[in-house]
Amino acid sequence: MRIDRCVCMEETFADAVDLARREGLSLTQIESRMGCGTGCGLCRPYLRRALRTGQTVFTELIHDADEPPQA
Ligand code: FES
Repeated sequence: MRIDRCVCMEETFADAVDLARREGLSLTQIESRMGCGTGCGLCRPYLRRALRTGQTVFTELIHDADEPPQA
């Protein structure tokens, strides 16, 4: 299974990381700007990991408890 986007808002993690790095945005700011993470919320741990590590494609399930809270 390939997990690479917020399904609710149809935004890729790659685009989120790009925007975050280009404009120095936090997760909260990315959520505000792109909407990702503001629907069902299942993509939030993936977004946190993507912003923390730069990884934008996942094949494993990640839960909230798997990722450290946002700094
Ligand atoms: S998958 Fe991102 S808010 Fe639902």
